[in-house]
Amino acid sequence: MVAISACCGGFLHAQSDLVSRGRDFAELVCSACHVVSEDRQTPILRDPGPSFVQIAGRASTTDGGLRAYLDTKHPDMGPSGRMPNPRLADYQIDEVVAYILSLRDHS
Ligand code: HEC
Repeated sequence: MVAISACCGGFLHAQSDLVSRGRDFAELVCSACHVVSEDRQTPILRDPGPSFVQIAGRASTTDGGLRAYLDTKHPDMGPSGRMPNPRLADYQIDEVVAYILSLRDHS
């Protein structure tokens, strides 16, 4: 179940493209329920998920752990099962995981 990290083999340039695509994607798909970046508005969900900066800042957050979380087949995700599975494609997981981990530098 745990996907081995296939990312990060390329150039720094490719990595920063991945991060910026991940940010655009997160702002479209995840921001209804998470604060995905500092300049983003409050999520619509009344009891939102943890912000991406919070997630990135946890010592327990790893590339493999995020991938395994997002790659699950369970319909309801998270410790209390409150996140509906967004059923992401592999390339979308690559982008959004690169973006979340890039937030470590700012936290
Ligand atoms: C419909 C609302 C919703 C959407 C859309 C959503 N999430 Fe979540 N997410 C949640 C909630 C609520 C939680 C907290 C889950 C819990 O505590 O059970 C969560 C938790 C998480 C967690 C942390 C799990 C943990 O171990 O604490 C990650 C990582 C995450 N979401 C990533 C994403 C990403 C990436 C996207 C966009 C592709 C996304 N989420 C879209 C609602 C959402």
